This record gives sequence, structure tokens and C-alpha cells, in this order.
Amino acid sequence: MDQYYTFTNTSGWTERLLMPSFAQDWPLLPTVKAEGTYLYTADGKRYLDFTSGIAVTNVGHGHPRVLAAAREQMDKFSHSAVGLTLHEPLLQLCQALPKVMPAGMEMFYFGNSGAEAVEGAIKLARYVTGRPGIIAFEGGFHGRTYGAASITSVKAKYRDQYEPFVPGVYFAPYAYPYRCPWGEDEESVIAWSQDGLERVFDRLIPPQQVAALILEPVQGEGGYVVPPAGFLQALRQVCDEHGILLILDEVQTGFGRTGEMFAAQVFGVQPDIMAIAKGIANGFPLSATVASQELMSKWLPGAHGTTYGGNPIACAAALAVLEVIEEENLLENCRIMGKRLLEGFSKLKEKYALIGEVRGLGLMVAMELIHPGSDKIPNGTAAFSVLNHALERGLLAYMAGLHGQVIRLIPPLNVTAEQVDEALMILDESLGAL
Ligand SMILES: Cc1ncc(COP(=O)(O)O)c(C=O)c1O
Repeated sequence: MDQYYTFTNTSGWTERLLMPSFAQDWPLLPTVKAEGTYLYTADGKRYLDFTSGIAVTNVGHGHPRVLAAAREQMDKFSHSAVGLTLHEPLLQLCQALPKVMPAGMEMFYFGNSGAEAVEGAIKLARYVTGRPGIIAFEGGFHGRTYGAASITSVKAKYRDQYEPFVPGVYFAPYAYPYRCPWGEDEESVIAWSQDGLERVFDRLIPPQQVAALILEPVQGEGGYVVPPAGFLQALRQVCDEHGILLILDEVQTGFGRTGEMFAAQVFGVQPDIMAIAKGIANGFPLSATVASQELMSKWLPGAHGTTYGGNPIACAAALAVLEVIEEENLLENCRIMGKRLLEGFSKLKEKYALIGEVRGLGLMVAMELIHPGSDKIPNGTAAFSVLNHALERGLLAYMAGLHGQVIRLIPPLNVTAEQVDEALMILDESLGAL
């Protein structure tokens, strides 16, 4: 039998075996073990993982309670084509999730990935309203399947050579204070984004033809852009006025990441539909499209479905995740550690003219790098260098933003003060090394 590739017996296998359409900046760390906030690689090194697998392992890698719940279910059975068969972890999860979600988020379609949850949300919105239009927001990222890619506008690269997209999609400006042409203060930012939305209604599609507005309450891939709460609240009002559904894509912001279970709760905004995934099961593939019973019950038999969605092992893991977040008081830790990280970032900003802005919510914390002395010209090259220096020093962090100019940190919600301080020290050295 041919020898299989391993981390040690050959070089260049990634080029031969994996599609090159992965981003070029991904470090492809050869991981052999992951525990808590740490990754261990084949060459015996240990890395602080401040990516959490891109906001997935919110309770840390290999949390013993999550693994135990998964193992227990695995011993019983590992697949159910939900509908043909049913299983208790799914029923229990359907009861547990509404207790931590915004009011009325109580009926579920389960999928496997964030993109599937988004697909479900936009299909549901069109189906129940009978309207074609979807308005998404500039700089948003919603996934790689066709529907999700059609409403994604973070980078033209993600859309290049895929035209034509799903029709009926329009884009309005997102409230990005640091880069708002009308000024960074809350009032100007909200006025600017509202004006853009009004232009879409006036010139492109009248509101009565719009099924839904869809957006991330904090933009993830777009650069950890935290809008003023008033932005989301104003969108809620627009939706109410015109019978449009408000879809929140909380794939990245959900499950404690922002210091509350969901960002909707931080901003005090009520969605009609939510897409959730990533942190839901700490790495077991699971996602959901969620809405009220009133809305969801209009999605009639045959209109949507799945083979793998709502996997029993993943649902059992998800139940354990909810227990861990509550019992280990992780929302509070998230707020405290997020504040510590952001304060550390603010100190770094005083020291390095490269840093244009620091921002964050909970443990979504970012610094946006610019060319020093310029009018906020994005500096993706510097961000890439800083990330590489940090990796050499044992910190895995990641980038975001149109030009890759944003360095984002996404540690698990149970990260410790020592780990936060170590990450800050490494970033300080890495910025200094430029
Ligand atoms: C906000 C948001 N929506 C959707 C997705 C797509 O999720 P997935 O990669 O699981 O399909 C992502 C992934 O990063 C995301 O950040």
C-alpha cells in the first residue's frame, strides 16, 4: 500500500492536494493536538490560539464536557435524517436555545454550516413574504454557497468569475464609523447609512418589493466593524414601516462572542429571522435558521430540507456548550477579558502610528492598520507582517477587512488574563519588529 502523506514524510503536499482557492495568507499550521486556548503542532511547538478556528471553539478546544456529551451520543447513534427519525438532543436543543436567544426565536431549521443557515434565512424570507428583494450591506460576509455569496460584498475576489448571482439582491451602506464619509460620530454614521438605504428604495427597488434586510450586527470578515446601536434600531424601524423582515446573521457574533449570548441583545434589536452557527457546538458542524413559530409555520412541507442538518452528536455537543457558557460564567469573562484586550490595544495605539483605530465588542477585538501620517490609507502589508511576526512568537491571530488591514483577535470566552497579556506582549513585539 502507498504510504499516506503525513506532516513529516513529505513537503509540498498541500499544493498537490488542497485547492489553491484557500486564501494565500492562511498559515496551514500542522496541528496535532488542541486544548483550551492552545494548539500544538507536529514540530513540537505550542501556539496561543486567538482565532478559535474563526470564532468556533468559544469554550476552548476540547472542552471536556462538550466531548463527554458528544461521546455519549456517539455510543448511541451518530446520524439521523431529521424528519425520517428524530432524536432527543435535537428536541432538547430546540427547548434550550429559545431561553438564551432574543424573544420569539423559537422554531428551527438545522443545517451544518453558517452558509446553510443564511441560505435558509433568505429562502424563508422570500417564501413567507412572497417578495423578491433582499437588501444586504456593503462589506458583509455571509458564506460561500451561491445565495450566501450573492449577498456578500466584503471583497470582489469572493465574487470574481461567479456571475450571474442570485437575482434580486441590492446593497446598502453599513455603518462603519471609522470610514464614514460624513463623520465618525454616531449621528453622522447613522444618517449616512440611512441615506444610502433610502437611495436603494428610491432608485432601485421600492420597499414593498423587499422581503428582507440581512446583515451582521458586527461585521466579521469586513473588519470587526462595530456599528452604533442606533443603526440597527433604525433598520428595525424601517422594516416595521414597510413589512420587511430583519435577518440578523449572527454566525460569527453568536454564542457569547460579544459579551451577551447574541449581539441582538447587546444592541437591543429584535430580529425576525436569525442565522446561527460557528460557536453553537464548539466545532461540531451545526447551524440553524431561527424564527418565530408564526413566521416559520408558513414554510410549508417540501419547501426546504436537509439530510445531515441537526446531527445528533453536534446537537448533544451544543447542549453542553450552552451549559458550559452559563455554569462557567463565560459571558462575564468575555466582557472582562474583552475590555482588558481592548485597553491593551488602546495602549498599543498610543505607541504605534501604524494603528489607525482599535475597536471591539466582547471578545471580537481588532486593530485597523494604516500608513502612518496618511488619511487612513489601509495597510494590509503591515497587518500581514505583524501576524507573521506574532506567529513566529507563538500567537495565532487573523486578519479581516477589504485590504486585510485589520488584525482581529478571537480567543475563547474562557481565555485567562495571563493569556490575554501574553498575546498583547507578542503583538507589541511584533509591531515593534516592523
Ligand atoms: C457572519 C458570517 N456568516 C456566514 C458565514 C459562513 O459560515 P460557514 O463558513 O460556516 O459557511 C461566516 C463565516 O465566516 C460568517 O462570519
